[in-house]
Amino acid sequence: MSIEDVPASRKDLSFRLVGEIGLMWGEKACQWAAKNKSEGEHLCQIRKRVAELVGHLSSDSVVLELASGANNKAYYPGEFNFRRVIATDISEEMLTLLAKTNLGIENRMVADARVTLPFLSNSVDTALCFFGMRYFENQEEVLRELIRVTKPGGHIGIADYDSYVYEGAVCVFDPCRLQGAVLADGHFVTVKQLSQPLLEGSPILYFLTIGVKK
Ligand SMILES: C[S@@+](CC[C@H](N)C(=O)[O-])C[C@H]1O[C@@H](n2cnc3c(N)ncnc32)[C@H](O)[C@@H]1O
Repeated sequence: MSIEDVPASRKDLSFRLVGEIGLMWGEKACQWAAKNKSEGEHLCQIRKRVAELVGHLSSDSVVLELASGANNKAYYPGEFNFRRVIATDISEEMLTLLAKTNLGIENRMVADARVTLPFLSNSVDTALCFFGMRYFENQEEVLRELIRVTKPGGHIGIADYDSYVYEGAVCVFDPCRLQGAVLADGHFVTVKQLSQPLLEGSPILYFLTIGVKK
């Protein structure tokens, strides 16, 4: 399947406007760049999962990061070679600041994750997304698009809270529902709960891993 084969219906979905979202996140970019990602248990758990997905990658592998924001170093293992990463985000400001907070990232691209990604099918080894999924109205399609661009045998890792509300329209992230949808397509999928709710109804952190079928 190539980019041209993606159904035209994908373009008809009624989304929040790209410009509106880009503007909102652009205004928050400085705040995100300066964000101190403390060495808490949640971060350690995410880094552990990411290490499992990127640890074996060769020096010429390609890692796609969706909605990468302005400050992503803490999600990866120490000494990770970021030259293999293509960082994408809807906000140009986020990516401009990312270039300053993570000097290793050379490849940055403004892209709306909710539509056809500007990558060829089977072109990346690993695709990752941290705390971006809740902002996508069409999460199942976003996953299918990540599967399209990931090589057979490659992996996709998604970390997010199920219902944490942060300004702007936020959608629920239901990893088990997404797992069902992707399993039905024949891929290998696991969902790991990385946190316990503090109170009834408080957000829970999950990590969804997809092994793309060969
Ligand atoms: C909560 S922040 C997380 C940023 C980063 N992944 C991190 O963990 O620090 C959400 C990010 O999603 C980006 N974003 C929101 N909607 C998007 C979309 N439709 N396509 C691509 N990026 C989007 C925002 O610009 C922002 O950088």
